[in-house]
Amino acid sequence: MNKKILIGAVAILVVAAAAGGWFFMKPKPAPVAQQVPQRDILIGFSMGTLQEERWQRDRDEFLKKADELGVVVDLQAANNNVETQISQIEGMIFKGVDVLVIAPHDADKLTAVIDKAHQAGIKVMSYDRLITKADIDLYLSFDNVKVGEYQATYILQAVAAKIAAGQKVKIAYIGGAKTDNNAFLFKKGAFNILQPAIDKGQVEIVVDKFSDNWDPQNAYKNLKAYLDKNDGLIDAVVAANDGTAFGSISALKEYGLDGKVPVSGQDAELSAIKRIIAGTQSMTVYKPISKLAAAGVELAIKLAEGAPINSVSTVNNVKMDVPSILLESIAVTKDNIDQTVMTDGYYSSKDIY
Ligand code: BGC
Repeated sequence: MNKKILIGAVAILVVAAAAGGWFFMKPKPAPVAQQVPQRDILIGFSMGTLQEERWQRDRDEFLKKADELGVVVDLQAANNNVETQISQIEGMIFKGVDVLVIAPHDADKLTAVIDKAHQAGIKVMSYDRLITKADIDLYLSFDNVKVGEYQATYILQAVAAKIAAGQKVKIAYIGGAKTDNNAFLFKKGAFNILQPAIDKGQVEIVVDKFSDNWDPQNAYKNLKAYLDKNDGLIDAVVAANDGTAFGSISALKEYGLDGKVPVSGQDAELSAIKRIIAGTQSMTVYKPISKLAAAGVELAIKLAEGAPINSVSTVNNVKMDVPSILLESIAVTKDNIDQTVMTDGYYSSKDIY
């Protein structure tokens, strides 16, 4: 090959490469594992709170799954403040997210901002907590009535001997935040189980309180106020989650009743699992958050792409019957810690023991 021809060939190669042609120079294919499909989707994930351990897990698992599926997430948490959450959602709409996933702090204060999202052509998923009084495209959560049923079922069993002995047992219901629709669902479930015993005169509900912001301190205050007025006379506590269980147990402790009075919970927080082992909390409810978060990302992508979604049920949110997907949870006691949260990899045995 003379010099001129060689220079000409190199020039052709350079021009072809620059034009992105590569028609005769096939690049080496990338190894399959690295081929993450980069979808052009931006998910806005608005979280009402990161207060409880579980929400931090929701955040981490959601981002992990999004990364795996090659989508980008704008995630913001509102620190239990409805104005903050509304302005964060407005920011996401302005930015042009393709879909909104919202775990609301205040269930019925988002109507206007969700209307705005829909006007901008953005679909909205209600995540874990139902948004009420608004048009919602999908609700993804757990069967929260069942969570409440698990709690009350355990507690009723724990006082069964007293009932059998003819005693009218005193039970406190320490609920969640009034702003959270889930708090009503957990309560509904608990009373599905308690009501027949109340009607038979076997059970007396001596405290029935919500805990503002799900704050353990408020749970403590509500139970403590009752105990102070009633010489610590209590047989059991149905607490709506592990945070309110912790607050309740702190109040019981002041009367030397921690470990003696059964207390329920929910979320399988590490501290709760440790209390169950120590005997101060009786049970918790494990909700596999990684499943929820992964489904959240997958379904958000479908919503963004306008793909059909097979929702199996609907839940009414005052405004409409919202297409819903509800996952299963599991009651956890001392007896099945290893087969539930440990088998599932939620915690390692080193975390727990
Ligand atoms: C969630 C619970 C959580 C509570 C407090 C509820 O909506 O379902 O898992 O403990 O909020 O954040």
